[in-house]
Amino acid sequence: SPVRWRATAEHGGRFDDHMGNEIDEQPAVAARVLDAFAGGIADGSLWRSLGLAGFDRIHRVVVLGCGTSLHAGIAIGRVFSDLGHLPVTALVASEASSFVPEPHTLVIAISQSGETADILRALDALSFPDRTLLALTNNPYSSLAREADAVIDCLAGVEIGVAATKTFVAQVMTGVAVALSGLCGSARVDRVDARAALEALTETPLRLDAALRGWSDSIPLLTEEFADASGFLFLGRGSGVVYAAEGALKLKELTYRWAEHQPAGELKHGPLALVENGTPVLAVDVGDRRLDINIAEVLARGGRVVRIAGVGPDPVGDLRPAPPWGPLEAVVPLQLFARSLAIRLDRNVDKPRNLAKSVTVD
Ligand code: AGP
Repeated sequence: SPVRWRATAEHGGRFDDHMGNEIDEQPAVAARVLDAFAGGIADGSLWRSLGLAGFDRIHRVVVLGCGTSLHAGIAIGRVFSDLGHLPVTALVASEASSFVPEPHTLVIAISQSGETADILRALDALSFPDRTLLALTNNPYSSLAREADAVIDCLAGVEIGVAATKTFVAQVMTGVAVALSGLCGSARVDRVDARAALEALTETPLRLDAALRGWSDSIPLLTEEFADASGFLFLGRGSGVVYAAEGALKLKELTYRWAEHQPAGELKHGPLALVENGTPVLAVDVGDRRLDINIAEVLARGGRVVRIAGVGPDPVGDLRPAPPWGPLEAVVPLQLFARSLAIRLDRNVDKPRNLAKSVTVD
């Protein structure tokens, strides 16, 4: 049964800022999602409880979101594509007007606030016959929830920090649970793959906690080493690319320093020109050994590579093939690093400049 966690953050936490405590709270949030939904995965009852059409009637999945919530959608989408063999479209909400509708489409709109203007505007472009809209949100009483055919609450609890952390983990956990539940009720899925995926999901709270502990000593060292870096490159392959994207977004919004993410195979098609002596390159490792070639390309030009793999800086004994949605625990060191560097640069980690917790304007 899912491990029960004492959520330190909900009762005072160890940090002065909300974001630090909300990062700490992630194992407890992941366990709460499992407690709520894991029992409905293997028998398909979670999927049916949402009133969604039979999984075999779905021909296409669209994940719709902005920022971190879109990243959660991309991670969730990989369960539908890799295990369900369904075409998945990740749609930036502000670009939804170019969307070409097709029948038998499941649209999963992911939004912690449920009030993001870009998402609400996108729903007009996504209203077409034989479409099902599932809202995956932290606010089941939001405008998005009211527009949806089905709603699932990701149970993250109130998130004060403008930079999304525990809501991202809750969104991925909840969306993966729903996708696996749909798959388990379908003839499409390979039972062995589904069982392995469910086991990986159940282990997630432990891996999030291990990552919190495994990285705690090295984050301050990396912060000092990169305190003066003007720009950062985040790399990934396969299911790791979206965690590189999330790491880059966290670094930008918290430290105000430039950062970009790339699929590692794209390096030689241009971004490698950015790499010079000391350039920080954070590489999310999902066990695809082609990443080693990309890391060697960076090292040969003096780049400083930090490999994000497993639950700590020394992944040798821990690296294993990531589940279809990727190594969710990889987000922990990326969140901790962005927060630590932001504090080192005297930024307000709970209220970064120019940003709002819910973007209710165009
Ligand atoms: C993430 O750290 C940012 N705060 C931002 O990208 C956010 O994820 C985005 O604005 C979407 O917000 P929502 O989940 O409330 O729709």
